[in-house]
Amino acid sequence: MKKPTSGKGPTRVLRTKIKKKSGLKESSRRWLERHMNDPYVQRSKAEGYRSRAAYKLIEIDERYKLLKSGMRVVDLGAAPGGWCQVAARKLGSTDEKPLIAAIDYLDMDPVPGCVILKKDFLDDDAPAALIEALGGPPDVVISDMAAPTTGHRRTDHIRTMHLGEVAADFAISVLKPGGHFLTKTFQGGTANDLLTMLKQNFKSVHHVKPPASRDESVELFLLAKDFKGRKDVDQVSSVSED
Ligand SMILES: C[S@@+](CC[C@H](N)C(=O)[O-])C[C@H]1O[C@@H](n2cnc3c(N)ncnc32)[C@H](O)[C@@H]1O
Repeated sequence: MKKPTSGKGPTRVLRTKIKKKSGLKESSRRWLERHMNDPYVQRSKAEGYRSRAAYKLIEIDERYKLLKSGMRVVDLGAAPGGWCQVAARKLGSTDEKPLIAAIDYLDMDPVPGCVILKKDFLDDDAPAALIEALGGPPDVVISDMAAPTTGHRRTDHIRTMHLGEVAADFAISVLKPGGHFLTKTFQGGTANDLLTMLKQNFKSVHHVKPPASRDESVELFLLAKDFKGRKDVDQVSSVSED
């Protein structure tokens, strides 16, 4: 997994600069300048992906081979839809036979091949709604959910970690045996309970930092591969396959 060119070296590209007297706050000016010069942002525009986050899933999938044609996938925290686009392409999902159920409480434009629920994943009825939308148990659950930032780093951290834990509970209660679970987490932040639970339920667990995840970001992904299956058959997966 390699990062695309950053504008340094032999393929140097012109950097866009925003004047210091632009009227923007200095932190906003720096953010915008970095965003406009980010090779992944430029690539996502050229390749028609809605987010630079799309490349995180592309890179993780290239390395770990998670997504295969015909699989069913649940995408948690899906807006604006980059991961949905990547999954739909890999699965060959179509509007006639959608193989992806996605959820976000933010508005999201339709993605061909995806059923999108505008809803909070933490709502009690969200798991059942997702499985009903999917028409059967998933092969893969992916979560890029991040709590809105409050400016208080520790609070943001705890909230996003909580989303990862609820996503893991959901995955364990609905995945098909042999299925995979991918979730966003933070470096140094993964709760031991979550790691232990994933290790008990999956054959392997990996910490993954794809090149598209910014070096300066504490973001990290937890990938749990090959779900061992549930002992009690009663959980949410009493949903039948069509
Ligand atoms: C980093 S973005 C996802 C980007 C997406 N993977 C893509 O490729 O376009 C995180 C998303 O998680 C969503 N989110 C956070 N908490 C959520 C919750 N409780 N229920 C549903 N969505 C949630 C946010 O609204 C946000 O759109």
